[in-house]
Amino acid sequence: MSSTQSRYHEVYARWKSDPVGFWREAAREIDWIKPAGTVFNPQSGAYGRWFEGAECNTCYNAVDRHAATRGDQAAIVYDSPVTQSKRSITYAELQDEVATLAAVLQDMGVTKGDRVIIYMPMIPEAAFAMLACARIGAIHSVVFGGFAAKELATRIDDAKPKIILSASCGIEGAKVVPYKPLLDEAIQLASTKPDACLIYQRPQLECSRIEGRDLDWAKETARAKAAGEKAECVPVAATDPLYVLYTSGTTGKPKGVVRDNGGHMVALKWSMSNFFGVKPGEVFWAASDVGWVVGHSYIVYAPLLHGCTAILYEGKPVGTPDAGAYWRVISDHGAVTLFTAPTAFRAIKKEDSKAELLGKYDISSLRALFLAGERADPDTVKWAEDILRVPVIDHWWQTETGWPVVGNPLGLGALPVKHGSPTVPLPGYTVEVLDEGGKPVPPGAMGSIVIKLPLPPGALPTLWQADERFKESYLSAYPGYYNTSDAGYIDEDGYVWVMGRTDDIINVAGHRLSTGGMEEVLASHPAVAECAVIGVKDALKGEVPCGFVVLKSSAQQSAAEIEKELVGLVREKIGPVAAFKLAITVPRLPKTRSGKILRGTMKKIADGDQWSMPATIDDPLILDEIGDVLKSRGVVG
Ligand code: COA
Ligand code: AMP
Repeated sequence: MSSTQSRYHEVYARWKSDPVGFWREAAREIDWIKPAGTVFNPQSGAYGRWFEGAECNTCYNAVDRHAATRGDQAAIVYDSPVTQSKRSITYAELQDEVATLAAVLQDMGVTKGDRVIIYMPMIPEAAFAMLACARIGAIHSVVFGGFAAKELATRIDDAKPKIILSASCGIEGAKVVPYKPLLDEAIQLASTKPDACLIYQRPQLECSRIEGRDLDWAKETARAKAAGEKAECVPVAATDPLYVLYTSGTTGKPKGVVRDNGGHMVALKWSMSNFFGVKPGEVFWAASDVGWVVGHSYIVYAPLLHGCTAILYEGKPVGTPDAGAYWRVISDHGAVTLFTAPTAFRAIKKEDSKAELLGKYDISSLRALFLAGERADPDTVKWAEDILRVPVIDHWWQTETGWPVVGNPLGLGALPVKHGSPTVPLPGYTVEVLDEGGKPVPPGAMGSIVIKLPLPPGALPTLWQADERFKESYLSAYPGYYNTSDAGYIDEDGYVWVMGRTDDIINVAGHRLSTGGMEEVLASHPAVAECAVIGVKDALKGEVPCGFVVLKSSAQQSAAEIEKELVGLVREKIGPVAAFKLAITVPRLPKTRSGKILRGTMKKIADGDQWSMPATIDDPLILDEIGDVLKSRGVVG
């Protein structure tokens, strides 16, 4: 479809001329217990609040209202090649499961406003848990399974959960990952202790004992079912938090992104038809994990709010069992969309470069592929277009925004694609590019990508119990704007090009990680005098971390031994998801005369990009030495 046939420009202009009216109209798609008198209060919160005064319940909108009208339709389809099982849960069954689990949570003393940590693998019970919290007004905080005990402990100490929901194990490709020992260690490390834990036993690896602080999920839900216990939906304020999702900040202390109830529902519901172009009743698949924002928004909440069938896939794009896994899922369930990270397509291409396995499956239901989580490199996008022959839609957003900021709005009629650009800002977002002094740059010039305040419904109002940190991190650099910490440019046609982060966050296989956090871990090793971690280009994962360490002269072990320990230490403290496999000893770190480590130049050298000697460098020779070390370790790209 050409841009003249797209309704995008008209809809964007309508939003721009009357944002409050636009979101008031979008809010009609939601069932409110008490509608908002004021759609937007600019005086409230850090930059204003949406739907203040309204009352609602997210679980009611995602589950109960569909149970009444489409009760027999599948709400969630669980597809798990790693356990060779599938399960379809209708909206009526989902209501039953969620209301029962919510009653169990109430029996455990959970009430409105309490936090509940969910540390679970990709099983339907993880979604039940999120919805059960939403039902009773408890605030969930899902922690990704690939994080280590220490990361979980940090989140426990920040969220101070009343209880924790977990499972005996996760299944990662061919590996069974025991969760319970990680949970126990995290609780031991944390200063805040939950009152209780509810543990879901998986047959692949059961915990030997569930006692004392721990309760057995199956027994508790069976007891509640037998007693006919079901929790009703509890009215909450639209501005009450639905969840807190921790994401990497610039230090080892993650940021607790707060999502409210009302604005979140309005924005997600709007995005399903207008951005993704999906209708209620259709099968929507986001191949991510409930531990990430994509999982929150597009595995659980948005498809259910829209009355779709959501696929919950416990598997990988390759190896479970092969590079045809995604095509099998689309064909088995009739998915109309697939949403994943570009890295998944790079993984498939690496194994099956001609996509021969595609020939085994009928994927005619698929209307579009959506890519996000990291920059969609043009080669991957073109390859996906060639093999799938459907629109491939790159879209850019962040944990903080909760839904796409820039994208090609398929639902409004797609605009012409420019490979490498996620296309245009969606209604709700005025995206600008500013220079270091906060002045707008001309089209095509690089700068910091910012969003004019107020942020739209669905985006974070603040960080969990850290209003000042929220303002400092996002609102202080450019007054009147939200700083995305992404750099890029906007071209003459208004297309946004997102080129990379301006802070120390890196994207590893679509997973957001802080190099600052990894540096804190390396620096804690007794033999390390100084360190720097950068993200280096990787053909599969986009970027992988690479740590440079200067050892203390007093270090007793060999450099190779220490490097091995450092790799183990990051895995132990942050988790396997960090994919930290490269620690390299160097004699000195390159610094400016004022002592600032030249991470940017090191990255260029490692990536094999053009670089020039910084004028302020203290010791020019060290960069050549680093180049030589990187070459000898096979890192230079
Ligand atoms: N629980 C425990 N461990 C986990 C985990 C989980 N939920 N998720 C990942 N890990 C582990 C992996 O097993 C791996 O461990 P290893 O070092 O022992 O091999 C490590 O964390 C890194 O995982 P991952 O980044 O997934 O790399 P991979 O090499 O296992 O797989 C891809 C590479 C590209 C196949 C994979 O990253 C992928 O499917 N990406 C799809 C994109 C995606 O889901 N993005 C999320 C945001 S949209
Ligand atoms: P997360 O909060 O984990 O979703 O990560 C958000 C970050 O991922 C963004 O700030 C970007 O740096 C990066 N990102 C996500 N989607 C895209 C995209 N489509 N293009 C470029 N970068 C992206």
